[in-house]
Amino acid sequence: MRISVIGCGYVGLVTGACLAEAGHDVMCTDIDTDRISQLQSGGVPIYEEHLGEILASSRKARRISFTSDTGEAIRFGDAIFICVGTPPKDDGSADLSAIDHVAQQIAAEARSPKLVVEKSTVPARTGLELKRVLDAYSRGELRFRVASNPEFLREGTAVGDFFHPDRVVVGVDDPEAAGQLREIYSPILDRKFHCPIHRGRCPGERNGEFLVTTINSAELIKHASNSFLALKISYANVLADLCEKIGANVEEVTHAMGLDPRIGGQFLKAGLGFGGFCFPKDIQAFIHLAASVGVDFDILKAAERVNKQRIDRFLDKVNKALWVVKGKRLAVLGLAFKANTDDIRFAPALEVVKRLLDEGAQVHATDPEAMPRTKKIFPQVSFHEDPYEALQGAHAALICTEWEIYRRLDWDRAAKLMARKLVIDGRNLYSPQRMKELGFEYHSFGRE
Ligand code: UGA
Repeated sequence: MRISVIGCGYVGLVTGACLAEAGHDVMCTDIDTDRISQLQSGGVPIYEEHLGEILASSRKARRISFTSDTGEAIRFGDAIFICVGTPPKDDGSADLSAIDHVAQQIAAEARSPKLVVEKSTVPARTGLELKRVLDAYSRGELRFRVASNPEFLREGTAVGDFFHPDRVVVGVDDPEAAGQLREIYSPILDRKFHCPIHRGRCPGERNGEFLVTTINSAELIKHASNSFLALKISYANVLADLCEKIGANVEEVTHAMGLDPRIGGQFLKAGLGFGGFCFPKDIQAFIHLAASVGVDFDILKAAERVNKQRIDRFLDKVNKALWVVKGKRLAVLGLAFKANTDDIRFAPALEVVKRLLDEGAQVHATDPEAMPRTKKIFPQVSFHEDPYEALQGAHAALICTEWEIYRRLDWDRAAKLMARKLVIDGRNLYSPQRMKELGFEYHSFGRE
């Protein structure tokens, strides 16, 4: 099928590249003309595992192209995936102006009927509004079908998640739209593509379930899923605080809890809390949506509050251990909001760095991917490619992102470089016992 993708951010680019790799003809566009030029000349503007290789193979097969001419992109596809940003407004609700803008462009530029698919995360009822404005802007001259197809892609493993979904949710209001979306996803659901993750030998016969729902339900499924995962993380974080007071080990507790399939072991890792461009904004938008229809989603407010307090808890540990922060050389290991991404949006590490700088510390930071983006925000920080260089002369190492290379760091070597053998671990990467054996003063969450 011919597919247009509007918006070449994390979601749009991964969606476009994966649909092209699955055999569709895809044209992508973005208002960021630099990004389009970069993509046209063979570049990959974001760090995402396997994205470079599938873009290269789709380019070679001439199944993907990039244009800054939105009209051309709109006319190209039978289906148009809207993958534009829906950032939070000051009151926490989602800013849907980019969606509205795209709707106006689609109505103005389309010359044939289109299936318009919202992929961006939006509050429930957006699809209904989108349908209404498409009809209004086009003065009823063309037929637009609207569908919601939320994404469940984690940054860092987005390509793998796209090719191996647990579920593909399509919210529609007519069976034809469901049929078109089934056709779009059939290579993926029926495993008829060359998998870049398993080199074509994927385990199992089929992928996840294809779920057809109403448009409102599909939109709710997305917000409900992200908010629930955020809730789980905050739950584990409060447990960690409790474990510290009582003298228990949060990992023993969450591991045992997670063995109950009704609970599940994932997203129960205590630490600095959740960041990124999804959970913090989605939980806010969901609270706002609920309030707008008179439902008080109190537990989500608590989850959000707990998450904000994680930074305070972490800095309490830093202050307690260091006594005086001003003037101290501190190595910050990890800037990205989580491992395997260069994304620093709402990253807990950034808030930590900001507060340390405010206190007068000398911050020496390192991250395998996120330094170029962070440099623009904190020019006063010293950045080091090599974590051991960041640790040189440091009064403390602060672990802010769970990168594998930090998990495997040689602390014997680091001990010889540091001014003081102090590690404050915001991601519980190391065994307290082992760090003690190495002679470190070691603080983490829920395991003292
Ligand atoms: C999240 C969801 O997991 C995806 O399903 C969803 O599609 C995506 O948002 C989205 O809405 O686009 P993502 O933001 O990439 O994906 O990151 P996650 O892997 O979910 O992690 C979110 C945050 O929670 C990170 O800061 C991570 O460090 C933190 N986290 C995660 C914890 O603190 N503890 C945990 O146990 C798990």
